Amino acid sequence: MENRGNFATKLGIIAAVAGSAVGLGNIWRFPYLLGQNGGAAFFLVYLLCVVLMGIPVMMAEMSLGRMGGRNASGAFKALGRPKWSLLGKMGVLCAFLILGFYYVVAGWTLEYTFQAIKFDFIGQTPGDLADSFAAFSTHNIRPIVTAVAFMIITCLVVSFGVKKGIENSSRMLMPILFIFIIVLAIRSVTLPGAMEGLKFLFKPDFGKITADVVLSAMGQAFFSLSIGMGCLLTYGSYVKKDVNLENTTFQVVTIDSLVAVLAAIAIFPAVFSMGLDPGQGPQLVFVTLPHVFNQMPGGSIFAIIFFLLLVVTTLTSTISLLEVVTAYFGEEFNMKRGKAAVVASLINVPLVVLASLSLGQLGHIQLFHCNIFDFLDKITSQIFMPLGGLLICIFVGWILPGKDLHESLSNKGKIKLRIWSVFYFLVRYVSPVVILLIFLGQFLR
Ligand code: PHE
Repeated sequence: MENRGNFATKLGIIAAVAGSAVGLGNIWRFPYLLGQNGGAAFFLVYLLCVVLMGIPVMMAEMSLGRMGGRNASGAFKALGRPKWSLLGKMGVLCAFLILGFYYVVAGWTLEYTFQAIKFDFIGQTPGDLADSFAAFSTHNIRPIVTAVAFMIITCLVVSFGVKKGIENSSRMLMPILFIFIIVLAIRSVTLPGAMEGLKFLFKPDFGKITADVVLSAMGQAFFSLSIGMGCLLTYGSYVKKDVNLENTTFQVVTIDSLVAVLAAIAIFPAVFSMGLDPGQGPQLVFVTLPHVFNQMPGGSIFAIIFFLLLVVTTLTSTISLLEVVTAYFGEEFNMKRGKAAVVASLINVPLVVLASLSLGQLGHIQLFHCNIFDFLDKITSQIFMPLGGLLICIFVGWILPGKDLHESLSNKGKIKLRIWSVFYFLVRYVSPVVILLIFLGQFLR
């Protein structure tokens, strides 16, 4: 992979990084975790995690990537610290594990798009919707077919290097998705009994904050922002010197948080209005939203467009995940881009199959009290990513000379940095200590 290519415009970088960040993490995972972890309390801890760890780690990771100018592992070698390339390899492994369950949910979005096109939701009660989700997601073959279809699409995009096309279109589609979620949110808060849902979202019960809730909120912050596993390190390596990474970080974090919050506002009032359990888990979005569509004039058309947009935002996230592995295989093992993407995808297939089956037939296989799907979700978001973030902070804050970092972030003084000292303080002291404390909190229960 000689010609690495760069993001051509500043907007292109924001589109790509936001494309990676905004995905199922915001629309599927955030609401369901929020529902399971007591609502507003979780939300508050989540926002704190975004500020204390999300922003600093994101900026640190992207600047590290730009300075290294290579894949997640090679970057450390390029910076003269070959031993640290293990951290990059950990990121590559993490990308594999995330893709293991992410493709499964991505497949669900494909299935729901087809169902919307066939007008399947019409006339279904919440109970029917829950049953039909359960029947589909526990099936031995159907969800595997859709997951593999999603894999193939992702692999094609990454191997043909048509990322630019995807980024351009997602740059246009993202605002549309945004508007759609706002419309959904408006419909949801005007349903009868919606107030309860808003209270659940915005009136924190501090008694609900436990070590577990904090760990899950931190995991969600890392997951949703795509940080701590080499993804933004890889994307950072494609960013030109004159780009202001402070701005990129702020913009992406704002977009990502807004989408998550709006998704929650679209979901919880409806959940309470329907009398459903907010803590029902991964099925939450797939049961609730079709019901909201059913309550809207023109809802069936709206549903089709919504699920299509969801497929596209999910695709920009799977692309970024596969890119971590592809860039690594390509540069470290000298493979052509297409071959690297295909090999990476093929190795992933068994994991995806296992993750999907673990929701049905293979549900009895338990690892640390979780089925395979949940296990992959938990070890990546609650262990790999925060640990990766911690090590990135140590590397950027303590090993890399501060002068070099400042020089790169400010493009030798040409870019005026607004939060340099706050950022550097957070990266060196606050983020790593908070991550460690949250880890330790698990043992002190
Ligand atoms: N941030 C993505 C989402 O919220 C998931 C992701 C995680 C993408 C890690 C890339 C790397 O859906």
